[in-house]
This record gives sequence, structure tokens and C-alpha cells, in this order.
Amino acid sequence: MSEPKALREPDAPSGPRGSVVGLRGAAYAYEDGPTVLSGLDFDVVEGRALALLGRNGSGKTTLMRLLSGGLRPGRGNLSLAGTPVTYDRKGLTRLRTTVQLVVQDPDDQLFAASVEQDVSFGPLNLGLPDPEVRARVAEALAALDIVALADRPTHLLSYGQRKRTAIAGAVAMRPRVLILDEPTAGLDPDGQERLLATLQGLRDAGTTVVMATHDVDLALRWADDAALLTPAGVRTGPAAELLGRRDLLEQAGLHLPWGIAVGELLRAHGLAPGSGEGPRTAEELAALVAGPQSGEPVSES
Ligand SMILES: Nc1ncnc2c1ncn2[C@@H]1O[C@H](COP(=O)(O)OP(=O)(O)O)[C@@H](O)[C@H]1O
Ligand SMILES: [Mg+2]
Repeated sequence: MSEPKALREPDAPSGPRGSVVGLRGAAYAYEDGPTVLSGLDFDVVEGRALALLGRNGSGKTTLMRLLSGGLRPGRGNLSLAGTPVTYDRKGLTRLRTTVQLVVQDPDDQLFAASVEQDVSFGPLNLGLPDPEVRARVAEALAALDIVALADRPTHLLSYGQRKRTAIAGAVAMRPRVLILDEPTAGLDPDGQERLLATLQGLRDAGTTVVMATHDVDLALRWADDAALLTPAGVRTGPAAELLGRRDLLEQAGLHLPWGIAVGELLRAHGLAPGSGEGPRTAEELAALVAGPQSGEPVSES
């Protein structure tokens, strides 16, 4: 297998505990609206796939917009690699070349006539030379598997193709952190699987990916870490641990992931080994039920 192509410099600095982008003591309230978040300390850690989980209205989109600079915290601050962001032109450019948000509805993001023009917009806006823009667009179209759509008018694309184009536009900025708001919503099962494979490719190439979702099963399967948005605040931890916490899930208005529920049941009935995590997928369930006696012998070599 060939080495995944690095989409950014591998040794850019990060802040305390590997934080690429973080909020300290952050609060946000909409004008004439609710206080959505307050006293929030939150970090996106380099290289850790993070799922942001909460029921509708829990503040996932608000948090993502704070992290990507679309909203400015009313209190506290946003920092990049430990340095507070300034919301002037220079500071926002630094933020946008580090963190890119893909909004939930691609129709809120796409506006150019063709796929290629849309994906070029961000790099052109950075004032990059033409060959650099072309290289980035080619790389982003390839990463999203939409090279064949380059000249297609955006209004003739399917929903899934529009989603991919919107993500390509963010990838063309070569962000260290790619934030996706409910990226699988509205996709059919095959579209979801293809998107997860694409995101895996971006992760392998060194991009830190954050996803908002209310799908606990998807989060368990996909994420290294999970952040649960509860009325009492945001709880973050390893996905497999946090998503086994019934108390926190209940506070967040979510249910136990299917895999964890099945694993508990199998263990309670002695049908699976007494320790361990998961299963996270149907394949892991099959392996767990088969057990070591009927499976392949474990080889240490
Ligand atoms: N533009 C807005 N103006 C006023 N209130 C808003 C606005 N956007 C979101 N809200 C409110 O803020 C809360 C959090 O919303 P949001 O961040 O969109 O949650 P989620 O993405 O988890 O569904 C909700 O109560 C929502 O109604
Ligand atoms: Mg939302």
C-alpha cells in the first residue's frame, strides 16, 4: 500500500495536551435566544476522531460554529495551539486555514456554478497562486472521489454529490481540523458507508476530523473520543467508555448504542467473554459470539 498523502505539514505546533483548537470558559447566547453554552472548556485534540453527540437543540451546531469562528463566544476565548484567536482579518485567516466547518445542508454552502469553481473558492480567496489552487482542487476532488464531476453544474448534483462537493471545498483549504455537522444525515446506507471510508482516508492523511451526530451507533463505530452535550455541560472521553455510561446518555437524551447493549446482554448470559468492549459492528459481534474456541487460533507472531 502506498503512503497516504499528507494534506498538511505534519509538525505544525499544537497547544497543551495536543489541543489544535480549544475553547476556555466559553459562553454563547443567541440574541433574543437561549444561553446555549456556558463555562465551557473544550479541546479538539490532534489526530483524535471526535464525535459530538446530543439531542436536537443541545448545541452541537453552536459549538461547531464557535470552534470554526462563525460565532464568537460572549465570554471566554477560542485558541489555536494555545494562542487566543483574534477576530481580525489576520486572525480569522489563520483560523480558517486551520479549522474548516462543513455545514449540515450543502445548499447553504455551495454557490458557484460548477463543482470545480466551488471547490476553488476558498484557496482563491487565500490569494494562492494558480498552480497551487489547481493542485489543491485536484487533491480535494480526488479525496472526495468526485473528479468526474469537476465540470458539473452544482444545481444538477444529487444530494450526496452536493455533500461531497461541500466537503471538498473545505478539504481544499487543507485544514488541520475538519468539522462536519451531521454529515451522514440524508445519505442512504451506501452513501454513509462511502462517506465514512472517505473520512477514514482524510484521517489517514493526517486531518483531525470532528463530526456532530445524534447517532450513537455511528459514533461508537467511528470515533476515538466522544463529547456528550448534556444540560449540565459537555462530557468528553474515549468513545467506548463514555457511550457505555447510561447515566450520561440519559442526561443527554440519547440511548445506549446497540453494540454496547448487545455486548452487556451476551456477557450477562455467559455467551461472550466477561471483559472487553463492544462489539461496535456486526463483524465484531460475529467474532465475539464465535469466541476463541471456534475462531482462528490466535498467533503471536
Ligand atoms: N440563530 C439562532 N437564533 C436563536 N436561537 C438559536 C439559533 N440557532 C440555534 N438556536 C437555539 O440554540 C439551541 C442550540 O441549537 P443548535 O446549536 O442548533 O443545536 P443542535 O445542533 O444540537 O441541534 C437551540 O435551543 C436552538 O433553538
Ligand atoms: Mg445542529
